[in-house]
Amino acid sequence: DWTMPDFIGEAVARIRAQVGDEEVILGLSGGVDSSVAAALIHRAIGDRLTCVFVDNGLLRLDEAEQVMATFARNLGVKVIHVDASERFLSALAGVADPEQKRRIIGRVFVEVFQEEAAKLPRARWLAQGTIYPDVIESAGGKTKKAASIKSHHNVGGLPETLNLKLLEPLRELFKDEVRELGIALGLPHDMVYRHPFPGPGLGVRILGEVKREYADILRRADAIFIDELRRADWYDKVSQAFAVFLPVRSVGVMGDARTYEYVIALRAVQTQDFMTAHWAELPHALLAQVSHRIINEVAGINRVVYDISGKPPATIEWE
Ligand code: XMP
Repeated sequence: DWTMPDFIGEAVARIRAQVGDEEVILGLSGGVDSSVAAALIHRAIGDRLTCVFVDNGLLRLDEAEQVMATFARNLGVKVIHVDASERFLSALAGVADPEQKRRIIGRVFVEVFQEEAAKLPRARWLAQGTIYPDVIESAGGKTKKAASIKSHHNVGGLPETLNLKLLEPLRELFKDEVRELGIALGLPHDMVYRHPFPGPGLGVRILGEVKREYADILRRADAIFIDELRRADWYDKVSQAFAVFLPVRSVGVMGDARTYEYVIALRAVQTQDFMTAHWAELPHALLAQVSHRIINEVAGINRVVYDISGKPPATIEWE
């Protein structure tokens, strides 16, 4: 039967045999799958793996910093950190439609990644964190992530024009095995057990037009929510939790003054497969603490609401 050390040994041998003395490029998103693929391939071929981490300006608070700390500093993986936030945000200016935003984010990602790949002429392989459920879903002719009716433009969607051979060392694994492998390879627990985060990131959690100001507010509110969930031991009891930025202003009062500021919605769901989901019955005291902290610590927000909609009919993300 199957053990993790055997799996690592065999996977490393297979990667070495496949790649020979050639070089590999991988788009690192900070998500579980691409992170574990990076750690495994690095174990096999070391410096002949180059990861490209693209900051699209729509990441969570300190996310780029955490990815660089984990991979570049702790594991010694070669990571190119591309700050493309200005490019993504200008491409998104004036665009409010959710699917159009997804397409733009996907297209700019491919452009940026291709430019970086062109700087690595010795790369012959494109590594991807494809896992077994992705393989069966695409074999069934469905969209890549059947859990969502929305289009997905992820790191996985890179074009064939790159002219690279595909390296997918996680193709036979289920999500829980990928997590176990990540831990065995020395990735931090918090990274391996992090909630899923959509490819378009905060781009689909800022309703309507995306602006840097909104993203900065949302990042801070979201970090407070996640921090309080962890402190209250609720983070691992929900499948996904996040804040959403609503670009409408409501009236509030602070001291003697009237305020007129934006709204943050909190979303936390429990689900097995992300096809259907229940809103999480978080304790009122926890919600009160999150609301209090967001309103006091995040300038520009004077009202926090909690989303009590199930999927269906609501989706998990607001866009
Ligand atoms: P919905 O909102 O469709 O989400 O109920 C179901 C799951 O899919 C994730 N999601 C996405 N993931 N790109 C992604 O990589 C996307 O465009 C996207 N849209 C939704 C969502 O976070 C949830 O886990």
